[in-house]
Amino acid sequence: MASQTGADVVATGSVRVLGIAGSLRAGSFNRALLHAAMELAPAGMEITEFTRIAEIPHYNADLDGRAAPEPAVALRRAIAEADALLIATPEYNYSIPGVLKNAIDWASRPPATTPLRDKPTAIMGASTGMGGTMRAQYHLRQCFVLTRTPTVLQPEVLCAFAAQKFDADGRLHDEKTRELVRALLAALGVLVEQWRATPAAR
Ligand SMILES: Cc1cc2nc3c(=O)[nH]c(=O)nc-3n(C[C@H](O)[C@H](O)[C@H](O)COP(=O)(O)O)c2cc1C
Repeated sequence: MASQTGADVVATGSVRVLGIAGSLRAGSFNRALLHAAMELAPAGMEITEFTRIAEIPHYNADLDGRAAPEPAVALRRAIAEADALLIATPEYNYSIPGVLKNAIDWASRPPATTPLRDKPTAIMGASTGMGGTMRAQYHLRQCFVLTRTPTVLQPEVLCAFAAQKFDADGRLHDEKTRELVRALLAALGVLVEQWRATPAAR
């Protein structure tokens, strides 16, 4: 079982986390937030980034099946091989960007074998406005009901006014947000350990 001391972690075993940033923008604050998490990951946790969501075509059931597009298959495989997911979502019109929803749609099929099922997942987000992606994060949680994806409930990492929190090189310098990211990763480590310990409950 994991132990938690303050915002430090945590997992007794090693935890491989797949990170996904839901923005294609070169200067994305959400990718920068994900990179901050990679830097702040506790001992025993390794976060790698899935960098190919731009290559995934629009979901089309006619393309799915044995000959599914290679980037979508790569996403499914990367999720399956990870112990946990960490998603940094922008907020577009009070919801998640289409590119992220599309990636989740591919990963969610077929429902009987989706790698999202039982995959402990943490959510965070950065926006330039005052909401900090709060509304998008609730929509993202909703996507994970049908897939039976357990998500970290708290802390909520709502990085509002992102332009003030990253420097010109994309480094997160806001200490409160850095602390929240550490706490989120600690909570993800605990969720992974809980999920490993209770397979019979599923
Ligand atoms: C199409 C579009 C819709 C947006 N809608 C919202 C919104 O609903 N709420 C919000 O806080 N910011 C909104 N924004 C601003 C984003 O927070 C901002 O562009 C942010 O930098 C996007 O994340 P990124 O830096 O990772 O690309 C929107 C931006 C775009 C391009």
